[in-house]
Amino acid sequence: MTRLLHVVGARPNFMKVAPLLRAHAPAPVEHVLVHTGQHYDVAMSDAFFRDLALPAPDEHLGVGSGSHAVQTGRMLIALEPVLDRHAPDWVVVYGDVNSTLAAALVAQKKGIRVAHVEAGVRSFDRTMPEETNRVLTDQLADLCLTPGASADANLRREGIPDARIRAVGNVMVDTLLALRARATALGMPEHLGVAGRAYAVATFHRAGNVDDRGTLGELVHALAHLATTMPVLFLVHPRTRGRLGEFGLAGSLGAVQLVEPQGYLETIGLVERARLVLTDSGGLQVETTVLGVPCLTARTTTEWTETVASGTNRLVAPEAAAIRSAVAAVLGAPPAAAAPRPPLWDGRAAERAVAAMLEASSTR
Ligand code: UD1
Repeated sequence: MTRLLHVVGARPNFMKVAPLLRAHAPAPVEHVLVHTGQHYDVAMSDAFFRDLALPAPDEHLGVGSGSHAVQTGRMLIALEPVLDRHAPDWVVVYGDVNSTLAAALVAQKKGIRVAHVEAGVRSFDRTMPEETNRVLTDQLADLCLTPGASADANLRREGIPDARIRAVGNVMVDTLLALRARATALGMPEHLGVAGRAYAVATFHRAGNVDDRGTLGELVHALAHLATTMPVLFLVHPRTRGRLGEFGLAGSLGAVQLVEPQGYLETIGLVERARLVLTDSGGLQVETTVLGVPCLTARTTTEWTETVASGTNRLVAPEAAAIRSAVAAVLGAPPAAAAPRPPLWDGRAAERAVAAMLEASSTR
């Protein structure tokens, strides 16, 4: 029996771990699920456990919010006895959040093998905390499980040997394909009164966008302008809600509809019928590509270059004028059709990821 201990903590981790916990494995596997508690609101965590039918975590570390140092430090300390108690064969970490790096660091120093799901993804923007987390986690990982060829090339450039790299595909796509019908069945556009209309969905939460008053102000003005022509549903992350209040920007949103952060199914159910998505999320860039929905990503870089190549996603500077002209270009073009999905974005990434770990265990 191979014991996989999965560490998750923040919203974008949950849809990535779900397919691994359910994946068909070629040999017996035991799963242990650890939640660091980086995200703790019902809307940021419990709703995802419910939508994704995740089992209750075996361990919950309750680290909560804090500066990078405080949050990461608490995770390091809390994780060590958990790894001692469960003695896993592999610690499996996901994506690029602080929980990812913390778990990889503790496990590697204890001589436990680390597998990184979504390895090799790079924005090449070293000011993003997520980029630091990605680069360091990949250096620590024994197995870098990548979404595809461009990620493999990034890892090779950083000196990671081929023996540690396995292209398995995009686990977010596994979850999306598995749950899309349930998301559609919720009838979210009807519930929010936008059914049958062209509407936009917006989400912004990156520190680089929302922690700066000037940049958040530009985003708010862009949304307020768009809301004069179509309904704009702004799903507001707690970080963003805090900044809107702190910077006195909440009153500038005009007709924009503020919506609490939604669960996984609710979000997909809204996005799949949107005319346009405005975001700085990594996950939504991937999801809109698979759903064939036009996406404007308010950033100067992306770690998901495949989504731009597919034609659904376009980068736009986080400035009101730039967003306004990009929106006009999207609305002036016919609605996007679902582009062919990149290779390995086929719904079977998790199965390949588990198989890669088992194969590496047997050749140890
Ligand atoms: C984290 C990830 C980011 C990811 C995002 C998704 C890192 C470095 N960043 O950013 O990559 O895209 O999650 O949501 O790991 N808060 C709440 N309730 C919660 C969680 C957070 O109110 O359940 C508030 C707190 O004020 C907290 C702030 O949001 O200080 C930021 O939370 P944090 O986990 O530090 O980072 P995110 O911005 O969520």
